Amino acid sequence: MKITASTTPLNQQKKEALLVLVQKDEILLPASNKSLKKTISDQIKQAAFSGQVGETVLLPAPKSYAVSHLILAGLGDLADFHSTYLEQAAAAAVRAGRAAHLKSFVVSSDIQVADLSSEEIQLLLGRGASWGTYESTQFKSEQKKVPASSLTFVGKQTNRAVIKRAEAQGRALIETADLANAPGNTATPTAIANWAKKMAKENNLSCTVLGEKELKKRGCGGILAVGQGSAEESKMILLEYAGTNPKAKPIVLVGKTVTFDSGGISLKPGKGMGWMRYDKSGGMAVLAAMQMVAQAKPESPVIGILGAAENMPGSKAIRPGDIIKTYAGKTIEVLNTDAEGRLVLVDALALAVERDPAAIVDLATLTGAVIMALGNTSAAILGNNDTFVQTLIQSANDAGERLWQLPLYKEYADQMKSDFADLSNISKAPGAGTATAAAFLREFVPSTIPWAHIDIAGTAWLESAKPYQSAGATLFGARLLVQWILSKG
Ligand code: BES
Ligand code: ZN
Ligand code: ZN
Repeated sequence: MKITASTTPLNQQKKEALLVLVQKDEILLPASNKSLKKTISDQIKQAAFSGQVGETVLLPAPKSYAVSHLILAGLGDLADFHSTYLEQAAAAAVRAGRAAHLKSFVVSSDIQVADLSSEEIQLLLGRGASWGTYESTQFKSEQKKVPASSLTFVGKQTNRAVIKRAEAQGRALIETADLANAPGNTATPTAIANWAKKMAKENNLSCTVLGEKELKKRGCGGILAVGQGSAEESKMILLEYAGTNPKAKPIVLVGKTVTFDSGGISLKPGKGMGWMRYDKSGGMAVLAAMQMVAQAKPESPVIGILGAAENMPGSKAIRPGDIIKTYAGKTIEVLNTDAEGRLVLVDALALAVERDPAAIVDLATLTGAVIMALGNTSAAILGNNDTFVQTLIQSANDAGERLWQLPLYKEYADQMKSDFADLSNISKAPGAGTATAAAFLREFVPSTIPWAHIDIAGTAWLESAKPYQSAGATLFGARLLVQWILSKG
C-alpha cells in the first residue's frame, strides 16, 4: 500500500473513503471537522454501530466532503485500550473498504488516541492499513487482478518519515506473509534459504546458508537430529545487517523454522496436523524483522538466525531415547521427538553466543502449553534478565503486540536433567511446559548475555479470518522486535 502525506484539507480530499476511528462514543476527528462529527454521531445511532474493537461500518459521505464514503472503525472502550486495537482498527477498515471495492483511503493525522504519541498513531495506522490489504491468493488457480491501495495522511501532525516507515514495514510484512502462509511442500528449508538469499540481496543484507554437510562438520547435532527423518535438507540460515556503528555488539534474533512438525516418531494425532505448517513462524517473523531493519538502518548490527528443518517419521528419523550431541557440546536425551523445536534452537543459540552479542531474542512456536496459559491473545516471554524482559514487554506494548512474562524458576531447570545425558528434551514432571522448555534453552546461553525467549505458538496463526485479518500467518513478533531495535537507536 502506498502511503503519502497531503496538505489539502480533509473535506477536499478526492479519495474514495475517509477512515474515522471511534472510541466508544467519541468520534476521533480534529475539532475543525465539527459538522462531520455531528453528522456521524447522528448516523451512528441509526447504523447500530457501537464502536467495538474490530467493528466497522461503511456510510455515504456528506455532500460537503469530496470523498464518496466514510468508514468508521471501532477502538472499543478507552479503559481497555491497547495499541493492538489501533492497528487492528486500521486493518479492519481497509478490509471492509476493499470488500466494497474501495481502494483509496484518507485519514487525519491530527487525532488523539489514548496516550499514544502522534508518531505512534501514524505508524500503527499506516502499518495496520497496509496489512489490511493482504490476502493469501498465491495458490488460487484463478489469479484475480487486485488493484493497489493507497492511504493519504492529512493534518499538521503528519510525519513523512514515520509514514514512509509504516509503508516499508507493511511491505516487509506482506512480502513475508506469502512465505509464512505457504505449506510444507513448497516452503521447504531449501526454499526458505533461497527466499532469504533473494531478500538479503534486495535489501543489502549478507546471507550465509549452512547445509547438512557444513552442519555436520560443525557438529550441529540438534538441528541435524530433527531433520534426519526428512527427505528435505536442513538449513541454518544467517542474515546479517552490519549497522551504522559496526563497533557495537550485534543483536541476534533467532527463529524456530520447522517447515512441518509431524511430531516425528512421537507422531502427533492426525486432527489438525496440517496446522503444523505454521511451525516455521518464529523464523518468518525474524525474516520480516530483518527486512524492516535493513530499511530502517539502525545503529546496532543485527543478525538473524533461522534453524530450518522438517520433523518427519521414517527409518532414518531420530528415535525416542536417542542421545545427540549439540553444537555447544552438551548432550541431550531425546525422549520425545515432538519436542523438536528446542533441539533446533539450541544449535542456533550456540551460534548466536559465538558472535559475542549485546542480546539474544528467540521466537518459536514452541509449546502447546502456552495456548493453555494465554490463548491466542498474548505470547509468553521468559528470560535470564528481568530488565531486558521488561524492555521487550514495553516495546511490544508500543508496537501493537502483547507479551506476558512467565517465571523461570530453578526447579524447571532441574526437571530437564537426564540420567543418561546432560539434558533431556522433556520435563520429568508434568505441567509448566512453556517454562520447562525455556529452562532447557537457558542452558545454552551464558547468564552474562541478556536473552529472552518468546513463545508464539498461540499468536502466530489465525485459524479463521477476523475483521482485521484473513486466516493464516500473523507474523507476530516482527513488529515488537523492530520497535525494540529502533528504540535503541
Ligand atoms: N510445534 C509444537 C508446539 C505446538 C503444539 C504448537 C501444539 C501448537 C499446538 C512443538 O514442537 C511441540 O510439539 N511441543 C510439544 C512439546 C512436548 C512434547 C514436551 C507440546 O507442546 O506438546
Ligand atoms: Zn513438535
Ligand atoms: Zn514444533
